[in-house]
Amino acid sequence: MSALENIPEPPHPERVRMRFLQVGEDHAVKEARVLAGTTIFDAASWNGVAIDSTCGGHGTCKKCKVKVVSGHAPLSAVDPRAFSTEELKNGWRLACRAAVEEDLTIEVPPLQTRPKAALVGVGRHVILRPAVQKRYVELDEATLEDQTSDLERLLAAMDDVEPRVPLDIVRELGGTLRRGGWKVTAVLADDLLIDVEAGDTSGRRHAIAFDLGTTTVVATLLDLETGQPQAVQSILNAQQPFGADVISRISAIMLDDGALELLQTHAHETLQQLTEEVCAEAGVDPGEVYEVVVAGNMTMIQIALGIDPEPLSMAPFTVVARRLPAATAADFGVRVHRRAPAVTFPALGAYVGPDIVAGILATGITLDRRVRLFIDVGTNSEIVLGSSAKTLATAAPAGPAFEAAQIRCGMRAADGAIEGVKIVDGEVELTVIGDVAPVGLCGSGLVDAVAELVGAGVLDPSGRFVLGSSERLGKIGEENVFYLSDDIFLSQRDVRELQFAKASIATGWTILCKDLGVEPAEISQVLLGGSFGSYLSAASAVKIGLVPKLPLARIVSAGNVAGEGAKIAALSVTERAAAQAILEEVEYVELSGRTDFNDLFVDQLRFPE
Ligand code: FES
Repeated sequence: MSALENIPEPPHPERVRMRFLQVGEDHAVKEARVLAGTTIFDAASWNGVAIDSTCGGHGTCKKCKVKVVSGHAPLSAVDPRAFSTEELKNGWRLACRAAVEEDLTIEVPPLQTRPKAALVGVGRHVILRPAVQKRYVELDEATLEDQTSDLERLLAAMDDVEPRVPLDIVRELGGTLRRGGWKVTAVLADDLLIDVEAGDTSGRRHAIAFDLGTTTVVATLLDLETGQPQAVQSILNAQQPFGADVISRISAIMLDDGALELLQTHAHETLQQLTEEVCAEAGVDPGEVYEVVVAGNMTMIQIALGIDPEPLSMAPFTVVARRLPAATAADFGVRVHRRAPAVTFPALGAYVGPDIVAGILATGITLDRRVRLFIDVGTNSEIVLGSSAKTLATAAPAGPAFEAAQIRCGMRAADGAIEGVKIVDGEVELTVIGDVAPVGLCGSGLVDAVAELVGAGVLDPSGRFVLGSSERLGKIGEENVFYLSDDIFLSQRDVRELQFAKASIATGWTILCKDLGVEPAEISQVLLGGSFGSYLSAASAVKIGLVPKLPLARIVSAGNVAGEGAKIAALSVTERAAAQAILEEVEYVELSGRTDFNDLFVDQLRFPE
């Protein structure tokens, strides 16, 4: 029996309790609570219980046989074709067809086949179940005796699916069937027939997962047969000349009528350039990329789709739609298969957007029993705290400390940037990216520098330089500065910017802890994500109070979680559904207007002593 069974969980009206008995060597037991209406297959897959399948839950392989040993699961239309009457009476069901409506105990037979899986996100083991499916069929040639229509002939050969068929496919179908000698491959994206290809192309299907960041855009070309990335490329977002952050891009749009179109074009060009690069690197024909997934903050997504982002920037901060209607790769300016859909993530709000939903998916916070904290550190920092029992999210405006341009000697994390600072016996040791002479200070270097100066007593807990505490202290104009090298320094104002940022973030997680009813010490893991957070030293983050005071082993870098979430959604429709469910599962906490915010913020301005 698992120890997990004994953990009490608060009741949840829309959730049902599932108990999986894994029949096998160890008779493992796993318990989970899932939203009513989830299929047994999805509930098992989200909770790491492997159920046999070769069709990935599409209801065609009939391998996902499980036995309901307590509770009732209604029969599906496919069940009578998979089981005898006796078996049905004994509770046997196809897991992918059975929706859970009440508490159930399920017996899961040992695996006969090994489901393909990929390790993605923050240690997530994702069972492959892409939306893009290919079916190779060999049809009987039409004759005078058999005048079945081309489309009916094709659909009859794949009678387990009832795809939606666009008109232009029918337009091409006759030619393709005859050219292919009646041997063709149907390409499906969910229930949409997106192509019929001559011959057997069933081994080749790809998707591209994009992280459309404000600064950097990353593309990963995925082989959907194996789940493995075949090429990864990143470039700066071509919208950069319009400002470093989302607010400056929105301002540009507000000031100039033509700017939205121009920024949209830049986003499209960036995504298309990456598409060409990853396809060339992997030697993949872009026409065999049948789907794209795009993660990004709401401003980036709205601009890329040509939707005015202005309402995102001013009260009451509304998004155009929490779930966007179906889009295509072409809507994002990406030239892959001409009917390839584009998948986006839902948004909890203007500032806890699709990128954070993708991040929540990649970190698996809502699936884990441990209480974990995820912080995407940036100008607008998103904070998520919770577990499978309850999860809260908020956005903390951290100000410009993490923007290189706002720090006197700031620069992007590129060659020449000081990314690490140590003060040993009064001597300053710098780690510089690219092993070249230092040119400036990037975000992680800034946090390190301040943490070390507090530790060395050069900065007092209020954030003021202690005059006379170091020979490296000096003045530029009226301002006190600390020289890290001959010409790179940290100014009093830089320290204040960082104090503001860390106080804003720390107030955010303090409020979430209060609302969730947990002490910071109870947090099992802190995940630092995003292009800035991933490079932070855990020790320095604790020293300045950016994260709770926890053993350093509990503070981990989560990497580019939005990009990982996009990959996960490309690989599995089950996970894609989980991302949609995050909208119901995660509660958004608005910080502005909270009466406790100001007091907590002022407390958090100080550095821990
Ligand atoms: S998973 Fe294939 S039929 Fe259920």
